[in-house]
Amino acid sequence: MGDTVISDTSTLPVHIAIVMDGNGRWAEERNQPRLFGHKAGVKSVRTVVETAREIGIQHLTLYAFSTENWKRPSLEVKGLMSLLDSYLKSEQKTMLKNDIRLQCLGQLNRLPPQVRKTLTRVISATAQCTAMTLNLALSYGSRNEIIRAVREVSGKCMTGELAPDDLNEEILSNHLYTAGQPDPELFIRTGGERRLSNFLLWQVSYAELYFTDVKWPDFGRAELLEAVADFGARQRRFGKTGSQLSQE
Ligand code: IPE
Ligand code: IPE
Ligand code: MG
Repeated sequence: MGDTVISDTSTLPVHIAIVMDGNGRWAEERNQPRLFGHKAGVKSVRTVVETAREIGIQHLTLYAFSTENWKRPSLEVKGLMSLLDSYLKSEQKTMLKNDIRLQCLGQLNRLPPQVRKTLTRVISATAQCTAMTLNLALSYGSRNEIIRAVREVSGKCMTGELAPDDLNEEILSNHLYTAGQPDPELFIRTGGERRLSNFLLWQVSYAELYFTDVKWPDFGRAELLEAVADFGARQRRFGKTGSQLSQE
């Protein structure tokens, strides 16, 4: 790993969530098929994971495939699934070396059996790693995640394990795919669109939003450091006034 540029770690986000968007347009600009862009995007994934780990980010969540993305042409879906499988196979060693724990957020059961097998293997191989958690959001949709959590919670209410009046934010959070992890503090979306696209709607309620026109295959180390520096310069007030914060 290279030199660390960030010297003030007090303003480092503990959790960064990224909507990796723009692969298709990046490829189209080069008169290439969309899959060419997705392949180039895998390189950015490697760089961003390595950089995040190096600067001390503890949780990194990458939106790799949404529940809505199943509506894409089947050839593109197949290509994405096969890229995912080969990425996971090639990264297991590096993840172990860099002490990175892999987690998956989403509907694992909808993924092709081969991908599920590889994913389960890497998740269990890296389960004891502690330096950084890498969450891959796969077949992920935030509303679906919330419904699933509400179902579990209401099941507990039916059996008497939980009283409806005792339900609170912490309990609901602990039924989401991100259970046990802090909420993202920095939300990044590449590719120029300014929307959330059903990503971590509950968890980003107080995240700082950072949108860039840079398309995902062009998003590398410098771009991530720039986003982190931008985050560091923001005043997070959480409802208070600026002067209250300066007196703290
Ligand atoms: C993001 O890039 C990757 C996935 C959704 C899998 P896109 O494929 O959405 O790229 P654009 O938005 O069409 O450029
Ligand atoms: C969001 O990107 C999902 C991922 C990056 C995996 P999309 O490109 O699918 O988002 P929309 O549909 O254009 O909002
Ligand atoms: Mg897109």
